[in-house]
Amino acid sequence: MAEAKAQTPQRIIIVGYMGSGKTTLGRALSKEMDIPFYDLDWYIESRMRKTVKQIFDERGEEGFRKIERNMLHEVAEFENVIVSCGGGTPCFFDNIDYINQQGETVYLKATPEVLYGHLKMGRSVRPLLLDKTPEEVYAFIREQLRHREPFYMKARHVLDVNLLDNYGMIKESVEQLRALLGI
Ligand code: S3P
Repeated sequence: MAEAKAQTPQRIIIVGYMGSGKTTLGRALSKEMDIPFYDLDWYIESRMRKTVKQIFDERGEEGFRKIERNMLHEVAEFENVIVSCGGGTPCFFDNIDYINQQGETVYLKATPEVLYGHLKMGRSVRPLLLDKTPEEVYAFIREQLRHREPFYMKARHVLDVNLLDNYGMIKESVEQLRALLGI
């Protein structure tokens, strides 16, 4: 009897805090599986022809969140795609319930230490971390993660991730992700 071939879910939607590796893993998985990858921040930037930072500057966080929700509704309609959300996406409006309906959601769970390890270098492009000292960034991550984790934990799957700073680590996490999703 022919073995049943694992079906690729129509959409895989990745959530997690800034610096958890959503884009890195999403892109690596998309290459391996040969299906398109959409990073929500990049999608917003190309649709709006503005950087996320410019949108924050011009419309504040509230304005950004409205645009983010609208753009989420566009990409989460595409079929056979991998989507990585922004760190805040699941924590506003009914976004987490919506994406749970739209696809297989995965939370990339990392400790504040791991997140800080990633974020201390890339503060300048992230409006929420701009102008903070390294100590303030660490305190901010801990505090915000406490508030956001209940939203992230509503994702259907949870994958513990560590620093993804070399090819071997990324490959290992991609394999874990595939096992988790059964693909
Ligand atoms: C944000 C995360 C960012 C981006 C914006 C706000 C957040 O995305 O959407 O700066 O609220 O956590 P990444 O998680 O891809 O950095």
